[in-house]
Amino acid sequence: MNYMTADMPGVESVDNEIMPINGTDYVELYVSNAKQAAYYYKAAFGFQSLAYAGLETGVRDRESYVVIQDKIRLVFTSPLNSGSDIGRHIDAHGDGVKVNALWVDDATKSYNEAVSRGARSYMEPVTEEDEFGKVVRSGIYTYGEVVHVFVERKDYSGLFLPGYKKWAPLYEAEETGLMYVDHMVGNVELGDMNKWVKFYEEVMGFKQILSFDDKDISTEYTALMSKVMSNGNGRIKFPINEPAEGIKKSQVDEYLEFYEGAGVQHVAMATNDIIKTVTNLRDRGVEFLKVPNTYYDELLDRVGSIDEDLEPLRELGILVDRDDEGYLLQIFTKTVNPRPTMFFEIIQRKGATSFGKGNFKALFEAIEREQELRGTL
Ligand code: FE2
Repeated sequence: MNYMTADMPGVESVDNEIMPINGTDYVELYVSNAKQAAYYYKAAFGFQSLAYAGLETGVRDRESYVVIQDKIRLVFTSPLNSGSDIGRHIDAHGDGVKVNALWVDDATKSYNEAVSRGARSYMEPVTEEDEFGKVVRSGIYTYGEVVHVFVERKDYSGLFLPGYKKWAPLYEAEETGLMYVDHMVGNVELGDMNKWVKFYEEVMGFKQILSFDDKDISTEYTALMSKVMSNGNGRIKFPINEPAEGIKKSQVDEYLEFYEGAGVQHVAMATNDIIKTVTNLRDRGVEFLKVPNTYYDELLDRVGSIDEDLEPLRELGILVDRDDEGYLLQIFTKTVNPRPTMFFEIIQRKGATSFGKGNFKALFEAIEREQELRGTL
């Protein structure tokens, strides 16, 4: 499988695909304070203000702020009244990802295909218009309460979506080099992984590209299993984790307990210069998981020679892994919300198309040290 990004020219759509997808359109989080969340992602991660919807734009029940960095659009939405479904979602799960929106050429066809293959409907196709054209959106449920919204924007030249106005506050932070969503990982309940693998195969036409069992992903205490689903052009990759039996509570168990169900565990964002990006993020207060220094003593023996100097990698805590096609550099933030649920990964791919299997053990031990501090191991 070749790894391709939305940047690369000449990425052809795959013939006979059930559901051609051009890339991630946006990721929407339901949060308790959208205005402050948007500020955090600007200040800490370097996102830029893009668009706003709320009372001033005629929306009475919610407020949404949209931020952007290169191809990554994040939407933060909060309810304006009690008793709303958004409020209930936040009460149940804390802040978290509600929508993983997929950019398609035909949102009606995508919806009809998915629903006819067994997807549960979230939103029938709707056309929204303003002076910049029209957008068609539709949506289906996936694991937990997460939904995929199909976005057809070929007849639209506006900033984000009809109904949003430009959001241009005085303050903008400098970008940090984040470019696109590399993958998005879901945690599902014990025994449910294969059900969702089947869902992505049968409903969306995805293929399983990798599989990890509890022998690959285990420490002395905890274990998990994971399968990676990809669409035809490789722009959409969804690893799905489920907990496996271990001596202590795994990170996936902890997530499921605090999120109160299945949901998005992490969103991986790609950069072309991870040392620069992570230095920048760290200096702005983003906290990362740390592996022991000994990790770096054996690193080059394990992965062979790399372009980067070892010292900055060690200082920042960046991990490296190699597969048949090249290597990758990655690092994980600590959880970003009050509940120990969601976090982010920063990844730089230098040929590697995999997900850092060689780092799983060191990484999970780092997570366990955090769990220990929380009393949730
Ligand atoms: Fe990841």
